[in-house]
Amino acid sequence: MKLMITKDYQEMSLLAAEAVESVVRRKKNALLGLTTGNTPIGMYHALAEKSRAGELNMRETHIFSMEEYLGIPPDNYQSLYQWLNRVLIEPCGIASERVNRIDGSAPEPQLACQVFDRTIESMGGLDLVVEGIGTNGHIGFNEPMSPPDSPTRIVALSSETQTYNFAYWDELVPAHGITVGLAAIMKAKEIVLIASGSKKAYALKQALEGPVTSEIPASYLQLAPQLTIIADREAASLLTIDKEGGFPCPHSSV
Ligand code: GLP
Repeated sequence: MKLMITKDYQEMSLLAAEAVESVVRRKKNALLGLTTGNTPIGMYHALAEKSRAGELNMRETHIFSMEEYLGIPPDNYQSLYQWLNRVLIEPCGIASERVNRIDGSAPEPQLACQVFDRTIESMGGLDLVVEGIGTNGHIGFNEPMSPPDSPTRIVALSSETQTYNFAYWDELVPAHGITVGLAAIMKAKEIVLIASGSKKAYALKQALEGPVTSEIPASYLQLAPQLTIIADREAASLLTIDKEGGFPCPHSSV
């Protein structure tokens, strides 16, 4: 586990973009499992800027969109895939055949979930997953009580998550989501967890320093072989680690 504490959101975003870039430079057709939410937006902007400037080529990467709302078709403005499309896929010129998403309006969504997991497996597993963290410790839409071996599936969104997601659109979101399961996330060759702001501090503390428990799905990341946490100072404010060089291998730029 490597912890990087940054002075602010901007620095968190740039370090996260560098982490993605380094995977893409090593493997141009890497499988990237990417999340939505506000936290990764700065990272996506940094990647899009580099792509536009010709400093980074992500055209051969395979993108896996990690979550969706059940019942929302991919061309709907509220679709999380569409969000990822706007901030990363289009600006980086990644062709649609390299993008894997679950259609929230698929007639058989459960089947679409199984196909999604099989695709990941058949392509050798995700090279990198970037996740944010929910205030209740969720990752993707793996809500509290998600088991570590959970497949990609339909989930009931907690009222906390629904309220949180309301703020993205100023509109109600569906009561159910579709999420890549913890199994595929945990099998990723590298995981980057990003967190910003004091509202994430308690969840991050529970995830990194609390017991590994399905009550805080992000706590399973403690067991991931290659985990990097990039958190700004506010999100890291409740961590009791010795920021000068103690557990768990901090690289602090503060
Ligand atoms: C949302 C998303 C998660 C995201 C988390 C935090 O519900 N499903 O993928 O990581 O909550 O969102 P934000 O980055 O906007 O704080």
